[in-house]
Amino acid sequence: MSVADDIQRSTTTIRTRAPQRTPRVGIVLGSGWQGVVAHLDEPTTIAYRDLPAFPEVGVAGHAGQLVLGRLGGAEVAVLGGREHAYEDGRADAMKGALRTLAALGVPTLVLTNAAGSLNAQMGTGSLMLLTDHLNLPQRTPLHGEPGSTRFVDMRDAYDPALRSAALGAARGMGQTLHEGVYAWQLGPQFETPAEIRMLRLLGADAVGMSTVPETIIARHAGMKVLALSMITNLAAGLDAEPLSHAQTLAAAQAAGDRAVRLLEAIVPALT
Ligand code: HPA
Repeated sequence: MSVADDIQRSTTTIRTRAPQRTPRVGIVLGSGWQGVVAHLDEPTTIAYRDLPAFPEVGVAGHAGQLVLGRLGGAEVAVLGGREHAYEDGRADAMKGALRTLAALGVPTLVLTNAAGSLNAQMGTGSLMLLTDHLNLPQRTPLHGEPGSTRFVDMRDAYDPALRSAALGAARGMGQTLHEGVYAWQLGPQFETPAEIRMLRLLGADAVGMSTVPETIIARHAGMKVLALSMITNLAAGLDAEPLSHAQTLAAAQAAGDRAVRLLEAIVPALT
């Protein structure tokens, strides 16, 4: 079966199981953001394993299910769980899932993640809107793509109009939303303090192990992108706390409610 067949079969399954839903915003939930699912009205859940274009997810804190429903009144398709490039080295792990959203006619994608902060003023529990990114591993999900559309324009990868809508929604609820540049590190190891000093020199504000390949896939598929980081720690060398996935999940849990409420306010403002 080709990827195109997998996308076709996934699209058909989604339309059949949730015929009344017309999602306008796709949302990929990273570590700490999974609580969004409980806030959906009229949810229809489909396991990734029933959708051949969707990835296998193996990381604790990632659910592996697609949920269609309404968030703050907006029609959404929520991807609970992503496959990361660090799992098997593939930067195109989310290609089938995101192209399925595009095939369903979803025009807007919201990507969420957990990240380390390079700025002590933006501490654990802060929320950051991505203004841009650094693709430091220089990996692409577009290897093998034909034609001139593969030369994707990455200016305004994070859509300026969506960003101002998100900032307006945050302001409206009195929630601080930082803005900054996200540096993608392949992982799964965390960074060394020397790497973090390098990233600061390069203009990064936060660092994480996801999102960037998905932004490239979505821009190539013609979707507009908004992305949000939940800061779960100060990056290596900026404080004494040891880094671990358990620490990421614990910090994500603590900030989860605020992040979910913010998303609930932002998403309807994007449509
Ligand atoms: N580095 C990379 N990825 C991360 C971090 C970090 O410090 N925190 C959460 N995800």
